[in-house]
Amino acid sequence: MSLPTRLALCELVRKASEKLKTPPSAADVKAKGSNDFVTAMDIETQRTVKSMLAGAYPECLFLGEEGEHAKLTDAPTFVLDPIDGTTNFIFGYRLSAISLALCCEKRPIVAVVYNPFTDEMFSAEEGQGSYLGEERITVSTADHLSQVVAGIGTSPYYKEYAEEVMQVAKNLYLSCIDIRRLGSASLDLCYTAAARHGVFVEKLLHVWDYAAGALILTEAGGKITDFSGNPLSFGSSCEIAASNGTLHEALISVLQQRG
Ligand code: IPD
Repeated sequence: MSLPTRLALCELVRKASEKLKTPPSAADVKAKGSNDFVTAMDIETQRTVKSMLAGAYPECLFLGEEGEHAKLTDAPTFVLDPIDGTTNFIFGYRLSAISLALCCEKRPIVAVVYNPFTDEMFSAEEGQGSYLGEERITVSTADHLSQVVAGIGTSPYYKEYAEEVMQVAKNLYLSCIDIRRLGSASLDLCYTAAARHGVFVEKLLHVWDYAAGALILTEAGGKITDFSGNPLSFGSSCEIAASNGTLHEALISVLQQRG
């Protein structure tokens, strides 16, 4: 079976992103859930990437955010979020990415996260490090939360978690230099890999939001678990606590604080 290299997936994603820079018109935006939108471009990008992958790697399975939620098995499977940061895309924030991972035995082995607005291409291959463009990236060397900026996700489609999300945001705000809310979880994980954030947390993410970013982070020297410090299963939606590794214990302590 032929499997892609990191550079082959970078090229494929770059090609698929060519039409992605124009914000959608109102007619192209539809609500698929509470505060959860899909644009014609999400659908078109998923269709384009899926057909490019099927042509080049016909034996691999496919899972995509837009209605193709097959359960991840041990078989080689591409996991795609065609536009991670759809709300940013709709409102012109220029912080959205195509996030693509190849998973084998339920863990990512090749990953690409590409923001066409900034032309930042993050990528990684298991055992071979992480890259921003052609440059190797590594996590922050900070050893105290007070030395870093924390990325936070707000799980906007699950407002039942509002109280906990805001409490965590407050606790990180008090422990760190400041907090940031990018609106694209895959980019948050890459920003942690590239030492922009020291840590990143989000209460509930789906595998297409975090699979690629998780590999890019760990290959850059970082760590990713749930809020209790347990390893991720990649088979399900879960809490995400990500860090440079050194700060992980301190991060988990903040996440365990009640009040
Ligand atoms: C969303 C973004 C956002 C995060 C949400 C995700 P989508 O992905 O990553 O930052 O807070 O939890 O669902 O819906 O734009 O692909």
